[in-house]
Amino acid sequence: MYFSTTPKRQSVAADSEGSTGMRPVPRRKITVDIRLSRRRFIKGVIFSGAAAASGAYIAGAQQLRPGAVMDRLLTLNINGRPRPVEAGPSETLAFTLRTRLGLTGTKVACNRGECGACTVLLDDVPHYSCSLLTHTVKQRAITTVEGLRMPDGSLSAVQQGFIEELSPQCGFCTPGQVMSAEGLLRANPSPTREQARQALAGNLCRCGAYDHYLNGVMRAAELLS
Ligand code: FES
Ligand code: FES
Repeated sequence: MYFSTTPKRQSVAADSEGSTGMRPVPRRKITVDIRLSRRRFIKGVIFSGAAAASGAYIAGAQQLRPGAVMDRLLTLNINGRPRPVEAGPSETLAFTLRTRLGLTGTKVACNRGECGACTVLLDDVPHYSCSLLTHTVKQRAITTVEGLRMPDGSLSAVQQGFIEELSPQCGFCTPGQVMSAEGLLRANPSPTREQARQALAGNLCRCGAYDHYLNGVMRAAELLS
């Protein structure tokens, strides 16, 4: 975008003859003031932004009803601990975990239920947290990757198995893979390789390290046996 630093005026001649030529209209001059300096531009942006923000605030305030703020407050059971938090009615669990509670081990990639990066356990069953509304999981036991560490600080069997088998490549999908494997082993501590493949089928890996993750799951099952 070009910003003129020198105020100036520009004249534009408008030819207002109609295209059919049936109704000639007298020519006239239109003067366009294009004294647009960077300072004026920024003022305009700030003002309009502030106006929009204040407008949204006023509109939001008008919609608030008594008790609305209280409706946003809830307590989640995360990694065995009650975690009071404020969450909007249309907020996803992935957003709440990462942004409000700082549990950034849960990753968000597609944010629409396709890749599995955001997998967490609800009552020991893997779910995509980007596709769950926070207010719908109030009664559930939520486990994130941060909650897998043993009380003595050691890693879980899945984490240890993944390390021993060098399962991750870039590592971005790893928390989701860990959580899906954890869900599998909690339900079935001695899976076959095919069962492990099925259990991790909802976790995409752009690095294509699928076999390495399966090796990690099978190693974790050995550690648990
Ligand atoms: S980020 Fe949730 S499934 Fe991809
Ligand atoms: S290890 Fe890179 S995306 Fe899976």
